[in-house]
Amino acid sequence: MSQNLNPKLLQKLTYDLKVAVHKNRLVGLWRVLTGFRLLYLGAMIAIVLGAFTRVYYYRVVQYVIDTVVGEGRNTQHLPWLALSFVGLAVLEGTFAYLRGIWSAETAEGIALRLRDYLYDQMQRLPFAFHDYAKTGELIQRSTSDVDAMRRFYADQALGIGRIVALFVVNFTMLLRLNTRIGLLSVVVMPVIVAMSYWFFGRVSKAYDRYQDQEAKLSTVLQENLTGVRVVKAFARQPYEIDKFDRENWERYHLGKKLLIMHSLYWPLSDVLCAGQTILVQAVSAMMAVRGEITVGTYIAVMGMLTWIIWPMRNLGRLIVQVSTGLVSYRRVADVVEQEREDIVAGSVPLDAQIRGALTFENVSFSYQPMAVLQDEDDKRKDKKGKEKETAEPEKKEEELKPVEVLHDISFRCAPGEVVALLGSTGSGKTSIINLLLRFYDYQEGRLALDGVELKDYPRSLLRRNIGIVEQEPFLFSRSIRDNIAYGVHREVTQEEVEQAAQAAAIHDIILTFPQGYDTIVGEKGVTLSGGQRQRVAIARALLKDPRILVLDDATSSVDTETEEQIQQALEVLIPGRTTFIVAHRIQTVMNADLIVVLDKGRIVQSGAHADLIQQPGLYRDIYEIQSRIEEEVVAEVERGVAESEFTFEPAGVLA
Ligand SMILES: Nc1ncnc2c1ncn2[C@@H]1O[C@H](COP(=O)(O)OP(=O)(O)OP(=O)(O)O)[C@@H](O)[C@H]1O
Ligand SMILES: [Mg+2]
Repeated sequence: MSQNLNPKLLQKLTYDLKVAVHKNRLVGLWRVLTGFRLLYLGAMIAIVLGAFTRVYYYRVVQYVIDTVVGEGRNTQHLPWLALSFVGLAVLEGTFAYLRGIWSAETAEGIALRLRDYLYDQMQRLPFAFHDYAKTGELIQRSTSDVDAMRRFYADQALGIGRIVALFVVNFTMLLRLNTRIGLLSVVVMPVIVAMSYWFFGRVSKAYDRYQDQEAKLSTVLQENLTGVRVVKAFARQPYEIDKFDRENWERYHLGKKLLIMHSLYWPLSDVLCAGQTILVQAVSAMMAVRGEITVGTYIAVMGMLTWIIWPMRNLGRLIVQVSTGLVSYRRVADVVEQEREDIVAGSVPLDAQIRGALTFENVSFSYQPMAVLQDEDDKRKDKKGKEKETAEPEKKEEELKPVEVLHDISFRCAPGEVVALLGSTGSGKTSIINLLLRFYDYQEGRLALDGVELKDYPRSLLRRNIGIVEQEPFLFSRSIRDNIAYGVHREVTQEEVEQAAQAAAIHDIILTFPQGYDTIVGEKGVTLSGGQRQRVAIARALLKDPRILVLDDATSSVDTETEEQIQQALEVLIPGRTTFIVAHRIQTVMNADLIVVLDKGRIVQSGAHADLIQQPGLYRDIYEIQSRIEEEVVAEVERGVAESEFTFEPAGVLA
C-alpha cells in the first residue's frame, strides 16, 4: 500500500476510523471525511463558481440581444462579447474539471482508507466475533457497502450541492430579472420536494432489504463453495440449488420492486417539470409580446429556467441515493465499531522469555455469544420477517445465552512436561487450548504461566511462543514451503524447512510431488490428504520452535505407524518444551507426565498412566476397551480373516 504515497496521504490513510463512528449517519459521514475536507470544499467551491458562469452566460446573451442587436448600441463590443462567451465556456469547463479531480481524489481516497481499515479490522477482531459473523456479510460490507459510500462522496453529496448552488444562483437571478416570473418558475418545487421525500422513504427501505438479500445470497454462495465436498458427498446439490434459487428469486423480486419504483417516479417528475416549463414559457412569452419584458430577458429566462427545472427533477434521485449511502455507512460502521482484540496489551514485556510452567486453578469458562452485525434496520426487519422465518428470531434469543464448557479446572505442569488431554468429543479439550492462546478469556479462577496470570501476557507474546497444530489445520493456497514457514517471522533456509518436515514425517512424501516443496496446496489444502495436511501443520508448528507446543488431535488422520514415527521425532524435540497433546488413543498419551481426563467440561481424573491404570475410572475403562479391541484385532489378523475389509476406528470408542 505504501509505495508511491506521499507522507500526507499516508497520514490520512492511518486516521483511526473508529472515532468517526457516530449514531447520526450524516455526522458519521462528515467525520469519515476527515483529512479530505479541504479537497472536498475545493470541489464544492468549483461547483458554485460553475453555476455562476452559467448564469453570466445568459446575462451576456440577454445583453447581446437587447442592447447590441435590438437597439444597435455598442456594436464595437461585439468581438469582446464573443470572446467572453468563449471565456465563460472555458471557465465552466475548468471548474467542472477541478470538481471532477478533487471529488475523485476525495471519494477514492476515502474508499481506499475504508477498505484498508476494514481488512485490518477483520484481522484483529476476536474469535468470538468471527464465530458469529457471517463471512458473506463481512465481504459484502467491505466491498459493495464501501462502494456505496464512495458514490455518496463522489456523486450524491456533490450532486446535491450542485443542485442547490444552481438553484440559488439561477433563482436569485430570475427574481432580479422579473419577480413574477421568478416566483412562477418554482411553483412545482414543493410538489417535487414532497414527492421525492415520500419516495426517498420508500426506496430507502426497499434498498435496505435488497442489500440484505444480497448479503444472504453471498453467504449461501460462500458457504456452499467452502462446503462443496460435503454437499457432493451427501448428494445435497438439489437442496443447495433450491436454497440458492429461493434466495435468488427473493433478490429478483426486491430488485424488480426497486426498479419499478424508479420507473414510476421518473415519468411522473418528467410530467411535472414539463408542465412547469410550459407554464413559465407561456407567461413570459405573453409578457414579451405585451412588451413587459424584452426579448433578451425572455431568452435568458428560458435558459435559466432549464437550470432550475433540471435540479428539481434530480433532487429526488440524489436524495434517494443518499439514503443508500446512509444505509451503507451504518453497515460499515457496524464493523468498524467492533472492539479489536488487543494483541500487545499486558504488563509482561513483549520480549519476555517464557519457561512454560502452567497452573490452572479452578478455571471456569463459557463462550459468550454475541449478536454481531445486527443493526437497527436488521432488527426492524427481523420483526417484520417473523411471518416468513418464524423460527429464527426466537432461536437467536436462545443462542445468546452463554454456554459453560469448562468447570473448575485445576492442574499444573512444570516447564518441559508433557500434558495429555483425554476425553470424549465435546468434553472441552479444544476449549482448554483456546484459553492457553488467549483466543478466549476465562471468566473464573486463575490460569498462570510461569507464575504470572495469563491475562497479563500480551496475546502476541503468547502466540509467538506457543506452536499449535489445530484440530482442523488450515493451509493456504501457496507452496508447501510457504505453508511450513508461515509462522516464523524471519527468513528460513530450505534446510530448516526440511528438518521440520522430516520430524513431522512428511519430507519423503513432499519429495514425491512433482514440484516438491514448491507444490502449490489447493484451496483449503484439498490436494493433500487429511493426514498429509496434519503433518504439514505439525512441521509448521515445529519450525516455529515454540516454548509450548500444542497438538490438538494432530495425529487423528495419521496411521499408527506414521504416528509412531512422529512420536519418536517429537520425543527428540519435546525435551525442554512444555507440550499439550490432545488425543483419543491411549497409546499416544501413555508416556505423558500428566494425563488429564475430561468429561463434560470437568476433570474426572488426572495423573500419570501408571497411577491411572491402578484406579477404577474412565481412564481404565477406555484403556481396557482399547486394549481389548487391539487384542481382538491382533487375534483376527492372526486368524487371517481380517486381511481384506475390516475397518476399525479406535477414536470411535470414545465418541
Ligand atoms: N466457539 C464456540 N462457541 C460456543 N460454544 C462452543 C464453541 N466451541 C465449542 N463450543 C462448545 O464447547 C463444548 C466443548 O467443545 P470443545 O471444542 O472444547 O470439545 P473437544 O473436547 O475439543 O471435542 P472434540 O474431541 O470433538 O474436538 C462443546 O459442547 C461445544 O459445543
Ligand atoms: Mg477439539
